[in-house]
Amino acid sequence: MLDKFNVAPAQNASDRYDWDELVQEDRVHRLIYTDPAIFEAEMTQIFGAVWVYLGHESQIARNDEFITTRLGLRPIILLRDSQGTIRALFNRCTHRGTTLCRKDKGSARTFTCPYHGWSYLNSGKLRAVPWPDGYACDFKDAKYNVAQVPRVESYRGFIFATLNLDAPPLLDYLGGIAKPIDEWLDRQPKGRIAVCEANRLKFKGNWKLAYDNSGDGYHVVFSHRSLLEMENRQADVANKGMSYYRSSPDTAPMYMAYMGNGHHFKDKRPAIEKRSGGLWAVEGPAPGTEHYQEELRRRYGDKAEDILDLASSEPVNINVFPNFSLLGNHIQVFEPVSVDETNVTWYGTAVVDDDGALGGAVDTINTLRMRTMEQFPNFGEVDDLANFEEIQRGLACLEDEWIYMHRGLGIPGRVKTVANGVVIAPATDEAFMREYTKEWKRLMKAKPNIAIKREP
Ligand code: FES
Ligand SMILES: [Fe+2]
Repeated sequence: MLDKFNVAPAQNASDRYDWDELVQEDRVHRLIYTDPAIFEAEMTQIFGAVWVYLGHESQIARNDEFITTRLGLRPIILLRDSQGTIRALFNRCTHRGTTLCRKDKGSARTFTCPYHGWSYLNSGKLRAVPWPDGYACDFKDAKYNVAQVPRVESYRGFIFATLNLDAPPLLDYLGGIAKPIDEWLDRQPKGRIAVCEANRLKFKGNWKLAYDNSGDGYHVVFSHRSLLEMENRQADVANKGMSYYRSSPDTAPMYMAYMGNGHHFKDKRPAIEKRSGGLWAVEGPAPGTEHYQEELRRRYGDKAEDILDLASSEPVNINVFPNFSLLGNHIQVFEPVSVDETNVTWYGTAVVDDDGALGGAVDTINTLRMRTMEQFPNFGEVDDLANFEEIQRGLACLEDEWIYMHRGLGIPGRVKTVANGVVIAPATDEAFMREYTKEWKRLMKAKPNIAIKREP
């Protein structure tokens, strides 16, 4: 059963603003980061209208397992029901609206509302209501079943959902960004990962500040100077971490690619020596990991370098609009909270070795992978979050209205549009920001076909 919504709250904001005035070729207006009405409109026009990342299949590997997450501001129970179907239920009791599930994760065939005890199967169907003789109805009407997101699809384990019946299939939405995702996965044994625990951060700023920065190669040596110096202080050769940004990053063999639909890809792999152990050689130090390294080299000899590369961070930033990034060996998820508050969660990922092909090295690899959390996610991300908060603070200057993103614009031959609308630019250019904000503007003007569904 589908319930359709023809009047989006966004219409108010759509009427009030001239989106072409707010998003121009070289600059955007401060209001798109500060106006609560625009934020509210985004929750429908962006987070209701495109495929939004919700979680990974390994987090709900068995029937009845669930995690709680969000689709924009909507609380969601992402689960694999008792029949094995992956569903995104609104975490909202149909009686008086309270959240049904208050846990981060678990296993449950049914959810019983903590308020008055209505209970539901994990398919979303109402199962029972306490003291039903107090009601004149028999509750057979589907309107009492839990609302759910009508479209849920996975791409190689990554689960996305959308409320928009007119959105293209997930694979079409991913488009060109599917290839870097494939390459990121195919580096892992059997092309698989499992999601681990998370490093949970938040900042007082608009969610787009994080997306603007997600491919920004311009800030690295300035904002992350202390991280770069720390990583290289004890190294025998000063090329650890993101050292490839240190001098002339635009002529270094790395690039930025805008892939359409708001997605973009920073490929730093060409800046790394392509050899066995090449990735591990530039991995930042985490005290104590040298003992694991020695042990692997002692046990596996020549094969150890390939094993160590599996523990290392892949030098890519794969950004799927609006809320999902793969970088290093982590998954980063942006979660809007309000116009000026955002959660940023970094999930660790583990390699999976069901058939023992890694010869027992799997636990060591995954220990080392987890330790990479101590590098960029701990020491670098905080630099970025400080910048985002300071931008939000700066944007309180009402009279100074514009934010410039024109680096690379208008220089002949610098930014190239290649096949299928893919735009290639040097690593420090703001071309991807100009492209994704164009897409944002298109979505803010569009009329998404929003619906929810309920079990019949
Ligand atoms: S709000 Fe859930 S049973 Fe009343
Ligand atoms: Fe950064």
